[in-house]
Amino acid sequence: MRLKWLSLLAVVILTTSSAKSSEITFRNVTLINSAGEEIVRLSSSSSLKENLPDERLDIVVINGNIPILFEDSIANISTIKQLRFLENGIEEIRSGAFKNLTGVQSLDISYSILVTLKNNTFRNLTVEELSVEHSGVTKIELCAFNYLPKLHTLSLLFNNLQTLEEEIFNNLSNLQNLELSFNFIRHFPDNIFKKIPKLKSVFIRNNKIEQLSQNAFRSNTLSYLDLSGNRIATITEGAFNDLPRLSSLILSFNHLTKITEGVFTGQSLNHVILSHNKISSVTSGAFKTLSHLEKLSLEFNRLTLINPQWFQNLINLHQLNFGHNRIREIPDKAFRDIQNDNNKRMDLSHNRINNISSYAFSGLKFLDTLDLSYNEIENWDVTLLADVERIRHLNLFQNKIKCPEGNFHKIFKARFTYLGFNLLTPHCLRKIVDWRLLESRRHVVCTKPCSLS
Ligand SMILES: *[C@@H]1O[C@H](CO)[C@@H](O)[C@H](O)[C@H]1NC(C)=O
Ligand SMILES: *[C@@H]1O[C@H](CO)[C@@H](O)[C@H](O)[C@H]1NC(C)=O
Ligand SMILES: *[C@@H]1O[C@H](CO)[C@@H](O)[C@H](O)[C@H]1NC(C)=O
Ligand SMILES: *[C@@H]1O[C@H](CO)[C@@H](O)[C@H](O)[C@H]1NC(C)=O
Ligand SMILES: *[C@@H]1O[C@H](CO)[C@@H](O)[C@H](O)[C@H]1NC(C)=O
Ligand SMILES: *[C@@H]1O[C@H](CO)[C@@H](O)[C@H](O)[C@H]1NC(C)=O
Ligand SMILES: *[C@@H]1O[C@H](CO)[C@@H](O)[C@H](O)[C@H]1NC(C)=O
Repeated sequence: MRLKWLSLLAVVILTTSSAKSSEITFRNVTLINSAGEEIVRLSSSSSLKENLPDERLDIVVINGNIPILFEDSIANISTIKQLRFLENGIEEIRSGAFKNLTGVQSLDISYSILVTLKNNTFRNLTVEELSVEHSGVTKIELCAFNYLPKLHTLSLLFNNLQTLEEEIFNNLSNLQNLELSFNFIRHFPDNIFKKIPKLKSVFIRNNKIEQLSQNAFRSNTLSYLDLSGNRIATITEGAFNDLPRLSSLILSFNHLTKITEGVFTGQSLNHVILSHNKISSVTSGAFKTLSHLEKLSLEFNRLTLINPQWFQNLINLHQLNFGHNRIREIPDKAFRDIQNDNNKRMDLSHNRINNISSYAFSGLKFLDTLDLSYNEIENWDVTLLADVERIRHLNLFQNKIKCPEGNFHKIFKARFTYLGFNLLTPHCLRKIVDWRLLESRRHVVCTKPCSLS
């Protein structure tokens, strides 16, 4: 009797293990190395490990159709640095598919058709980089990324994510870079980034965010935040208040129309990029607390003026991009507060500037580039750069200048002055040619239609 039971048990065990053997993950799959050569072909196998050569490999690309990654299919891999599942049409990753990948630094699944990243899919792996890209992911279960102590870069580029749960990144103790661009995310739960203790960079380009409220972004470590290509039209005051280390904030290609005081308050901001919005109004004190700001980019907006008050306290600013706006005039002492020794780059090109106050640039001493090309400037005189001690490029290309007024030694202060496509008179051209005979260190560049020779 007992024997009978035992044999029955044996049958049961046999059936379960034969069920396992039907879980063939790899049918007619090839492994390709970094040189694009086939390493091995798996005609039918349940384990990647069994088929690997002994040698160490930097990159292995897995090629072929793999509808399901079964449990234990990718386990005990110690000889591959980067493992890439490329266009495998993976529909499902079973729990425990990935185990003990001691040698694998980077795991990449792209161009598959995953819909859900399930609980514990990526559990207890020592990978440093994990990418699930172009794979139609719409949902990430709570503990999909669980206990990944070395993970420093997580990319979910080009998926269909619309929402994220607050806790999904909770256990990523080493995560520094988070890439969420090209999804459909509208809203971030409060504090979602706060629990990632080493977070440095977050990329959320090209999603569907409309509004940034206070509390959305909180992190004591985050230094780079890219929100470009969303639909952000309003930013609540204080939205970035809880990012004490934030140094670069990218808000280009959004729907902003005005910048008010109290939005940019981070003392630590170095770069604020607001290009390609519809900004026509910037409050006087909008940037006044940004004493570390080095680069301010407002190009491709709808500004009609330069307000000297914008630059109060911006003592470290040295790159200003205001090109492609509708600015008409530059008032007296517009940049008086920007008093540092850096060689500044100022782009005011592609505006409608025709009225520059004689003292517009007073106080500015060191310039790399002053770009005023593609404007409507008629007069350029000797007082404009009177305070400038060093300037490399003065670009006046495509304006309406007939002849700069005054002593050319003082006018052409820059190492290179560009005067092409102006209305220079023949008399003026002759004067410039004469001046050039005496001057070898500094250059006036004017080809068509003035051909200086
Ligand atoms: C295996 O895949 C190759 C292409 O990668 C294909 O040409 C071949 O017909 C497949 N063989 C089987 C048995 O499916
Ligand atoms: C991994 O290796 C260990 C030790 O050699 C072994 O006990 C285990 O069964 C292996 N796991 C898989 C899924 O191959
Ligand atoms: C992990 O894999 C390595 C070899 O790939 C093996 O030596 C080791 O025993 C495995 N560890 C576990 C806990 O399975
Ligand atoms: C993590 O995996 C290792 C083997 O790779 C194993 O020894 C250990 O128990 C696992 N830890 C957890 C928390 O699952
Ligand atoms: C995933 O795991 C968490 C914690 O273990 C649990 O709360 C949650 O219900 C699980 N979700 C699913 C879909 O199984
Ligand atoms: C984080 O880890 C703890 C302990 O291992 C676990 O209880 C919890 O469910 C995990 N949470 C997530 C979101 O992974
Ligand atoms: C030029 O701008 C000043 C103010 O900066 C203004 O007073 C003056 O009328 C303007 N001139 C023209 C011709 O628009």
